[in-house]
Amino acid sequence: MKAFIRTFGCQMNEYDSERIAYYLKNEGYSLSESLDEAEVIIFNTCAVRQKAKNRLYGHIGSLKRLKQKDPGRIICVGGCTAQNLKDTIQKDFPFVDIVFGTYNISEIGQLISKKKRVKQAICSIKEQGFDYRLEQSERPLPFKAYLPIISGCNNFCSYCIVPFVRGRERSLSADDIINEACRLSRKGVLDITLLGQNVNSYGNDLGSDIDFSSLLERVSRIGIERVRFMTSHPKDFSQRLVRVIRDNDNVVNHIHLPLQSGSDKVLEKMNRKYTLRHYLSVVDAIKSNICNCSITTDIIVGFPGEEEEDFEKTLDAVKKIRFSRAFTFIYSPREGTAAAEMEELVSPKLKKDWFGKLVSLQNRITYEENKKMEGKQLKALVECKSPKDDSLLQGRLYDNTIVLFASPEAVIGKMVDVKVKKAKAFYLIGELVGIH
Ligand code: 5AD
Ligand code: SF4
Repeated sequence: MKAFIRTFGCQMNEYDSERIAYYLKNEGYSLSESLDEAEVIIFNTCAVRQKAKNRLYGHIGSLKRLKQKDPGRIICVGGCTAQNLKDTIQKDFPFVDIVFGTYNISEIGQLISKKKRVKQAICSIKEQGFDYRLEQSERPLPFKAYLPIISGCNNFCSYCIVPFVRGRERSLSADDIINEACRLSRKGVLDITLLGQNVNSYGNDLGSDIDFSSLLERVSRIGIERVRFMTSHPKDFSQRLVRVIRDNDNVVNHIHLPLQSGSDKVLEKMNRKYTLRHYLSVVDAIKSNICNCSITTDIIVGFPGEEEEDFEKTLDAVKKIRFSRAFTFIYSPREGTAAAEMEELVSPKLKKDWFGKLVSLQNRITYEENKKMEGKQLKALVECKSPKDDSLLQGRLYDNTIVLFASPEAVIGKMVDVKVKKAKAFYLIGELVGIH
């Protein structure tokens, strides 16, 4: 029996898909890359941006044809949009068999069995609950793993739907996390990402002394080759965390630190609870303590009330900080959030114009930063053949930059040394010089 899973959105969603894959495998399904041959089709959805939702609707719509061809096929929609728009999905797409929420993943096997017995569509959405069982996930690459440490968010940034679809922060117990990290290490995992919407809030709800920096230190001591984490909130990024990254070689020198805007006025309206000055002080602490630390970010343009001078402040901040990469977004209102009620909307034309300017500035910086890598010898974890050119292999540097190089496939899953020969706009070309 074959199942097809398509994931939209963030790393947390990717992890949820790994959990879905685990439960499907327990039911006797194997994963397929082909929609056509799959008996169970699962879309694990994201609600963060309107564009993603629109695209999702197109994708779900296109499944109708498959369902008509073979009505025995089971079509499931899960994740954040399912959580948020269960009624609309059921109404607009009556051929969808199962709608399930972000807290119902461990039930997916039972839901499919039930659907085989009953005629009507099933909707299973828990508003609360926490069904994480850490060891129950199926990793696409055996040597890389996500490890969730906290789920949900209490921050309520005014544009963001996450607190509404993922609920309040809940930290997993430190002992469970450490046990799981040890198990993954024994299984040969070389690269582990501690995941959470705001990892820096880890432990606040546990009523114990443990905070994120001490958890990170404990995980790093297990000795996994690379330990990374995301996402960090600038308001909660502590000096102690900077020291833990500096003092533990296997905690990678890469921090994803969403700036969102370079204007204090906009940051305040976004309810981000920091100023640009504070953000720059965190960047300064990182850069002055951690050698060659790569910083990546998220930025939104066109937030309600944003004016030319605010946007200029974002450009100035980007020029000053020189992010290795930035994920850039055009603001889109999400129903139910505070920003969706705000006035002074930025015109679509201006939003597009600003977006274009920001992207071209950041692309230039990314290329210039990549250029600085030329001639350096760096460690890479080899993941797969390059999807761009299958005569080359694809590896990842400490900060997830892609490096392509020629080598026999036997090094996939290993750490290698590569000498960077040439920088491209978004990746590097290298030469294999050693295998660990
Ligand atoms: N509009 C545009 N971008 C958004 N993001 C979150 N919500 C919105 C929205 N309503 C972006 C933020 C966040 C990233 C994951 O998505 O930059 O950090
Ligand atoms: Fe959304 Fe803000 Fe929470 Fe990030 S910190 S998930 S942007 S509410």
